[in-house]
Amino acid sequence: MSNVFTYQEIAEHNSPEDAWIIIDGKVYDVTKFVDEHPGGDEIILELAGQIATEPFNDIGHSDDALKKLEKLLIGRVDVNSEPLNQTEASQSTQTTGGEGSGKLAILCAIVFFAVAYYLSNH
Ligand code: HEM
Repeated sequence: MSNVFTYQEIAEHNSPEDAWIIIDGKVYDVTKFVDEHPGGDEIILELAGQIATEPFNDIGHSDDALKKLEKLLIGRVDVNSEPLNQTEASQSTQTTGGEGSGKLAILCAIVFFAVAYYLSNH
């Protein structure tokens, strides 16, 4: 299979009528498969047009699942294309989380010093 697709092209195939997913840098057309997926159609369609490597591997899919997957292969990702999204989106969520806990740490420090100050003066 020699088709090579950019992340942008793959991202356009994100509807139930036309759904592609990326697993391990390979592109799979799951449009016809979603209806027969034992884990349900929604779980795959949510990832349509995106990288599904982690969720796919996390489930611990069987060899049978891998065989089915092979049949859906249509090409691979153009590694020189810009990955959209996902990773960036989840990274920014993490950053926000980091900032949040940073603020919490400062707040705790202020409370600690306030209590220490109070105790030392009484
Ligand atoms: C084209 C890609 C996929 C194929 C060919 C596939 C195939 C299968 C197969 C054959 C099973 C039955 C159990 C097994 O043999 O391991 C299964 C179960 C399951 N799959 Fe997938 N799967 C795909 C993508 C995904 C993705 C992306 C997710 C998660 C986001 C997912 C979530 C699940 C879950 C949760 C089950 C367990 C269902 C249950 O036991 O109740 N699958 N899949």
